[in-house]
Amino acid sequence: MPRKILVTSALPYANGSIHLGHLVEYIQTDIWVRFQNMQADTTCHYVCADDTHGTPIMLRAEKEGITPEQLIARVAQEHQADFKAFHVQFDNYGSTHSAETREFSETIYKRLRGAGLIEKRSIEQYYDPVKQMFLPDRFIKGECPKCGAKDQYGDNCEACGAAYAPTELKNPYSAVSGAKPELRDSDHYFFKLSDPRCQQFLRDWTTKGTLQPEAANKMQEWLGSGDENKLSDWDISRDAPYFGFKIPGTEDKYFYVWLDAPIGYMGSFKQLCNKQTPPSLPLSGEEPPTPSPDKGRAGEGLGFDDYWKQGSGAELYHFIGKDILYFHALFWPAMLENAGFRTPTKLFAHGFLTVNGEKMSKSRGTFITAKSYTDHIKNTEYLRYYYAAKLNGTMEDIDLNLEDFVAKVNSDLIGKYINIASRCAKFITEIFSGKLSDNRNWYPRLAIQPNTEDDIFQKLTTQAPFIVEYYENRQYGKAVSAIMHMANMANVFLDFRKPWVLAKNIEDSEIREELHHVCTIGINVFRLLTIYLAPILPNLSSRVARELFGMERDFVWGDIKAFSQQISPYQHLMTRLDPKLIEAMVADNQETLQPTPQAHSQQRHAAHQQHEAKKEVALAEKDFEPFISIDDFMKIDLRVAKIVNAEHVEGAEKLLKLTLDIGEEKPRTVFAGIKSAYDPEKLKGRMTVMVANLAPRKMKFGLSEGMVLAASGDAPGLFILSPDDGAQPGMRVK
Ligand code: 2FM
Ligand code: ZN
Repeated sequence: MPRKILVTSALPYANGSIHLGHLVEYIQTDIWVRFQNMQADTTCHYVCADDTHGTPIMLRAEKEGITPEQLIARVAQEHQADFKAFHVQFDNYGSTHSAETREFSETIYKRLRGAGLIEKRSIEQYYDPVKQMFLPDRFIKGECPKCGAKDQYGDNCEACGAAYAPTELKNPYSAVSGAKPELRDSDHYFFKLSDPRCQQFLRDWTTKGTLQPEAANKMQEWLGSGDENKLSDWDISRDAPYFGFKIPGTEDKYFYVWLDAPIGYMGSFKQLCNKQTPPSLPLSGEEPPTPSPDKGRAGEGLGFDDYWKQGSGAELYHFIGKDILYFHALFWPAMLENAGFRTPTKLFAHGFLTVNGEKMSKSRGTFITAKSYTDHIKNTEYLRYYYAAKLNGTMEDIDLNLEDFVAKVNSDLIGKYINIASRCAKFITEIFSGKLSDNRNWYPRLAIQPNTEDDIFQKLTTQAPFIVEYYENRQYGKAVSAIMHMANMANVFLDFRKPWVLAKNIEDSEIREELHHVCTIGINVFRLLTIYLAPILPNLSSRVARELFGMERDFVWGDIKAFSQQISPYQHLMTRLDPKLIEAMVADNQETLQPTPQAHSQQRHAAHQQHEAKKEVALAEKDFEPFISIDDFMKIDLRVAKIVNAEHVEGAEKLLKLTLDIGEEKPRTVFAGIKSAYDPEKLKGRMTVMVANLAPRKMKFGLSEGMVLAASGDAPGLFILSPDDGAQPGMRVK
């Protein structure tokens, strides 16, 4: 069956630069799309767009003295130049601020409203009377209600880590104008995710193979089990002034940026369809785009409904970072399903990028933009190769170790792969006028090792199905290892046959013939490995196809079976990566990326957007943080505690009151949510582990002076920890 596939990557915000962290996703997706398009009977489209709406973009444009439209037009150019440099090849790159995305946003909203899934409610929010706008939490500052630290954001304190509502801040002020904010009521529109229809649908959708196992587990936690209703309704509106699309039927309410962001996937794909089959009427005054052929199938056109109608046989995949799973695994499918569109076939979530084992950091010079990379290193296929070598299709973080990066590129790409061509091509050109041997009977005689009979070329072609499977499952690391193993074999073969020695004795016709065959095998293996690597190294493989083998097109997977007759003179294909370039890049980023007002606002913006997302989804647990330092860990004072008393708490559904001895003068009281799992009588006298330096929390039933630790998973059950025999109350756990 021919496959019709539509693929997306997450839409980057339109006010920040593309950096090496973003590129993990775009490169990962691009490799997959290229691999698919090399297969016969598969058409794979790849679309993306800039994510353009929201308060930060509006304020940034204002600060620069330009309109948001001007800002997003400028950033769109920058983003597209970066993607091109890294060979990330979209079939269409759009913007969420487009007629198409507006139309789909309105349609989806109206259909959800028609289904009774939109509710209007009044909520209380901080309002900046000077700037005359409602303030997102990240734009309100004040003193932390817990520790009193000054200038903290409206959602959590950077000094003590406490999380709170903006209304709890002491002496709040607007980060936009400095004015004291007022609490005002405002009508907001909510998507009723708590509706049983949504809950039921999502329980089913998230467990039918659409998500990686780790993501599916996370979703079950968020969804709750059985008749629990853990999803809250989602506020999809924002008050004017806001840069976005006005909600139909309102005067001053706009769709929240995250409502129309994924709809941007549809909008961008619609633009692609229009390019291939222009609509008869231009949309809202725009010029109809010029038709372009669909990957060689000129005139066939591309039907939007074939990909997006319910029950469509086309496949739809979203590549995303694990931090935006909630939006894509809950809100997005629920919106699509209830608005009568198809839902994604699968979500492919990946982890974050660390550089040298740590979060990208401006002070260490490891917050590297795409532009800075190309300015210093130029060859972007080095990075594509390194990322591919590290990617394995899971949500684990990947590390760009800069020393390892240089070593791997030089030893694998130059030392193993390119080496095969440079060892053979010159003899074929100089001695045999570029003509390759066509006597395949020689192959088994030219064993890779002495005293064996082994057709190395044939052996390597049998690996194709494994390579296909690795690419399909996004286990690029396995594909790279297998390909490099083959490159090793080819080099062992050449070391053993020594064409450079044979070349010195070509007056002997038998030796001359052997040289011809040895180099022909080398070149054909190089060609095969180039096809295997083509999704990762599109530019290099295209040059090999065209410059070395004289083809008029790029390689397709079916080419692994074909044999070449002739090569053109070998042109230098790739140089070693000089570690000095990396040093210069890091040094340059250290110097230039100190928080200039603009960089700072980008950083704040990114933090803000991320925070907004997290808040929306109540991601209180920080289990997706890539790494913490030992210093961070040491901040947590874990102590062995003896449960000297445990009792029920009147009126509390989930809590037990524990009295814990941790070797202090007075025992601590802790209210622990473990009632469902433990009989208090059985806890008395047991040892466990508590967090002793958690800020005391005033609860309805009294003061809780810490927290006991318990394990839980997908299966029911809650298990408090026990130290090994011999541990004494008060001992530190570290
Ligand atoms: O997290 C982000 O960077 C968002 N701009 C991603 C949006 S993806 C999709 F939903 F549009
Ligand atoms: Zn604080």
